[in-house]
Amino acid sequence: MILLFGFGGVGRTYAQLLYQRTSYRLCAVFDSGGGVMKEEGFTPSEIAALLNTARGAVSKAGVGRPVHIDEALDRCRVLVDVSPPNYQNGEPAASVYRKARGLAIVTANKAPLVLNFGEYRNIYYKATVMAGTPLVDLLRGLHPQEVKTVRGILNGSTNYILTRVYRDGVSFNTAVEEAREKGILEPDPTLDLEGVDPAAKLVIIANTLGIPLSLSQVERQPVTPLGPITRYIAVLEGGRAYVKPARLPPEDPLHVDYTMNAVEITTEVNTILVKGKGAGRLETAFALLNDTMRAMST
Ligand SMILES: NC(=O)c1ccc[n+]([C@@H]2O[C@H](COP(=O)([O-])OP(=O)(O)OC[C@H]3O[C@@H](n4cnc5c(N)ncnc54)[C@H](OP(=O)(O)O)[C@@H]3O)[C@@H](O)[C@H]2O)c1
Repeated sequence: MILLFGFGGVGRTYAQLLYQRTSYRLCAVFDSGGGVMKEEGFTPSEIAALLNTARGAVSKAGVGRPVHIDEALDRCRVLVDVSPPNYQNGEPAASVYRKARGLAIVTANKAPLVLNFGEYRNIYYKATVMAGTPLVDLLRGLHPQEVKTVRGILNGSTNYILTRVYRDGVSFNTAVEEAREKGILEPDPTLDLEGVDPAAKLVIIANTLGIPLSLSQVERQPVTPLGPITRYIAVLEGGRAYVKPARLPPEDPLHVDYTMNAVEITTEVNTILVKGKGAGRLETAFALLNDTMRAMST
């Protein structure tokens, strides 16, 4: 039985996929207006009714019964967090995680993880970094190889903006506006444009590799066009981590266009290149679903 914390773009897509592809059931659903619960799990038609509610209206949908988060946490087995990232204090999710002792946590929300990486034991987080191209699974599989460098284009929205500027010739401000209209910028666009999002992903990558790194240790420069061909790169090498705009030579394998992501991992015996879709509602929901299935089977 699954508690879904957040019922926005990714949360709703996840709920649909869960019911289409598995026999697992949601027992509680929360949005910013509160939550509802049904101990034996919502039926497909009840989920359809919840999907028809407006944002913030889950607790008024007349489906299940209104419930406080504490009771829902007591009765569900897996917590799926798709609430917004808050890099100041991780809330509202961080308090929920603290109360969720005994539950497995599956998350697409980077902030609580990045602020307290070591704190959570039973947590599945492959949806937080390159959800469409599950990098976390690959990184885990490298142990005990020594990873020397990770370089990547980890933020699809800024790569979209830079591609529009240099490949398609639109102005920087127009490209930012387009990214906003397409819904690919975070609700707080400074998280993308000032590099907090890729810096958070570097923190998750480093800690997954067993390298302690906090958000404040990642050096950040905001995205700015420097001339052709600028990419917004995120780098982890030799204990140093940084995010900055850089002009890469044309033959650099990190060149990918629009919202695509790319990562080059150099280990003591290999150089691995991964390219593919990063975020996106469906891609992220699939990564969450895979983690849910793993969490439910342990
Ligand atoms: N979109 C992507 O492609 C993508 C990819 C990877 C990771 N992520 C991460 O996934 C998470 C969700 O993204 P999204 O695009 O689905 O965001 P979203 O559409 O803004 O949905 C966020 C949901 O969280 C709910 N929420 C806000 N405050 C809450 C509270 N105090 N208690 C309970 N629920 C609360 C919102 O409620 P209301 O409905 O009432 O507003 C909304 O349902 C974020 O952490 C994001 O960074 C997103």
